[in-house]
Amino acid sequence: MGNRSSEDAVARLMAEMTLAEKIGQLNLLAAGEGLTTGAATDTPLAKRLDAGEVGAIFGTKSLASAQALQERALAGSRLKIPLFFAEDVIHGHRTVFPLPLALAASWDMALIEATAGFAAAEAAAEGLHQVYAPMIDVTRDARWGRMAESPGEDPHLAGAIAAAMTRGLQGTDPAAPGRVAACLKHFVAYGAPLSGRDYDNASLAWEDLLEIYLPPFADGVAAGAASVMAAFNAVNKLPMHAHGPLIEGWLRGRTGFDGLVVSDYTGIRELSAHGLGAPATVVLRALAAGIDMDMVGEDYLTHLPALAETGLKAPEAGLTLSAERVRALIDRACARVLGFKAGLGLLDDPWRGLTGSPAAPDRAEGRKLARKAAARSAVLLKNDGLLPLSPDTRLALIGPLADDRANMLGTWSVSGRAEDVTPLLEAVGALAAPPPSHAAGCNLVEDDWLIERLNVHGTTVTRDPRSEANMLAEAVAAAKAADVVLVALGEAKEHAGESSSRLCPDLPAPQRRLLDALATTGTPLVVAVFAGRALALGGIEQQCGALLYAWHGGIAGPEGVADLVFGRAEPSGRLPVTLPAAPGQTPLSHAEDPTGRPWTGRFAKFRTGWLDLADDSQPYPFGFGLSYTEVDYGPPRLSATEARPGERISLSVTLTNTGARPAIETVQLYLSDPEARITRPARRLVAFCQVELAPGEEREVTFEIGAEMAQYPLAPSLEAAEWVRDPGRILLHVGPNSRDTLSETLTWLA
Ligand code: NOJ
Repeated sequence: MGNRSSEDAVARLMAEMTLAEKIGQLNLLAAGEGLTTGAATDTPLAKRLDAGEVGAIFGTKSLASAQALQERALAGSRLKIPLFFAEDVIHGHRTVFPLPLALAASWDMALIEATAGFAAAEAAAEGLHQVYAPMIDVTRDARWGRMAESPGEDPHLAGAIAAAMTRGLQGTDPAAPGRVAACLKHFVAYGAPLSGRDYDNASLAWEDLLEIYLPPFADGVAAGAASVMAAFNAVNKLPMHAHGPLIEGWLRGRTGFDGLVVSDYTGIRELSAHGLGAPATVVLRALAAGIDMDMVGEDYLTHLPALAETGLKAPEAGLTLSAERVRALIDRACARVLGFKAGLGLLDDPWRGLTGSPAAPDRAEGRKLARKAAARSAVLLKNDGLLPLSPDTRLALIGPLADDRANMLGTWSVSGRAEDVTPLLEAVGALAAPPPSHAAGCNLVEDDWLIERLNVHGTTVTRDPRSEANMLAEAVAAAKAADVVLVALGEAKEHAGESSSRLCPDLPAPQRRLLDALATTGTPLVVAVFAGRALALGGIEQQCGALLYAWHGGIAGPEGVADLVFGRAEPSGRLPVTLPAAPGQTPLSHAEDPTGRPWTGRFAKFRTGWLDLADDSQPYPFGFGLSYTEVDYGPPRLSATEARPGERISLSVTLTNTGARPAIETVQLYLSDPEARITRPARRLVAFCQVELAPGEEREVTFEIGAEMAQYPLAPSLEAAEWVRDPGRILLHVGPNSRDTLSETLTWLA
């Protein structure tokens, strides 16, 4: 973000600042209740502001609150250094869009950029300067609750999303009206915790780190992201809040990132729990590793003043820093905080973004975008011809999520409101001629302790006091009286999200029993699954005529589903994660390494072979999704079958929409490298593009292939990593998903 004049402004300020003022800039606090009673307040936050001991605040919730805090901060700062304001704006602000995982299923970067742009405008109108997004943690483990916020299992798709969201949030200048600074998080490998347990550590081959988890950060940085948040977990034994080799080494050294690095919530003090030493020791480890701001823990504020006088000798932690070095590290972090503020225009105008900013964008426009995004995000997994429905179908709408608002928002929708959601019953009712009948059919979950846990951020799950038999009987009667049943099943909002790992990521048992009961009626079933992760659905497809994976779609999620069900929108979503058939299959991805004893058909089909999984229950592959039409892929054609490094080869394929409805087709290109120095992924996504095809239309799609696509890291250590490529054969696979592809061989000459 730096330029000459902002560097000068920072240097001028730094020259005048006291040590205490510099340390104050590193303190990042939560707004809590803000300044509830005006200037006379004596809250801990107010006292900090009066003493110039805060650099930034997150979670203000209103423009007035941010203004009051800024006024207090400026009064308390000798040099009148303003605060900046941040918030978790993960998939929309007041206008809640589909979950990030759902948006990833659109594979539509322009759409994702537009949702981020709208969120930025809403956030900026509330006085926010920075948002804690995009979350770009690649994950392959459906147990992990934060899969909901992630871009899915693939680094190429995640990288495209990192760039699209950064562009949407920041535009070309995060200081421009209606824009905010992006914060790439969580650096890094937060999506690879052991057993899917949130916050747990990741032990990975350096090759995996370099090829799977780091690239989306490089892509976000290349798109100009102004900040990064560190992850709670350790990577290969070193907690990320102390990971100098990855933060100062890789992030700043290799990608050219020159922005701000913030800790996650109390992440610095948690280094002690990780076993890295006493509070003063871990403070210096974090500062030396490149964590510029301390979120909530106030450990920098508490310990740095003394450490800057004494330095530290902690041989047990392998850490010895002179007082002079500590002061230099404080200067480094402070200059980065001030540089960030300069980049936001706050050093020129401390009220930038807080007065005279554009009003929030039109919410009706946001709603239209949210509805389109919801329809584009839902993935049609099965359709035996049942969909789309005619509006005069006598429909029964059944399930614990059929008339739901709050859960539709999905996790991490901190500024969303349940009242903004149109429930499925209303959305379907608006499009169907005879109004649908309705029955809940069952409770979402059966355990009281779980209901309590799911309601941790406000009540979204209640228990129907009727007996299950009673509820099932009502649902079965409604199903029998209908032409078609639309069944709304899935997870509660906080089933997925932070600290919400699931041992068994499948449909809760009462919902399975409801489906079994409905299946006995013989009335055709359309099942819509609303969830925050890749739920194991094994067997469901045998009970229904159509299956739509709708995720948690935000305020207009149900309307997007209704549009698809009645054919007012074309299904085009494609899975950004492999959907396991059974929970025990997770972690799972299309890009697993081959073994010496592959299961039969491994490259063509996902493996079977689990004793407790029926052969006809298969995972839905990454990239999979159906349309209401058929798109035929002709044989892929290479411009040459041999090439020298440096040459560009093209691979073309002709697509034909052979059906009667329009198609939005995502053409996917995968690569495998069967002759390498190390085991390479069975296949991995290297390119994709989305094309629209009218009924009967034929179009040629061309991908450009370069030798760099086959590069891979060899990394005995992070420092010794080198990217190599081998002469010889690679296989290129083109198709509508990671399984159903046609292949060509290309040989790279030495
Ligand atoms: C903890 C979460 O891990 C992070 O994603 C979030 O931005 C911060 N809390 C602030 O709310």
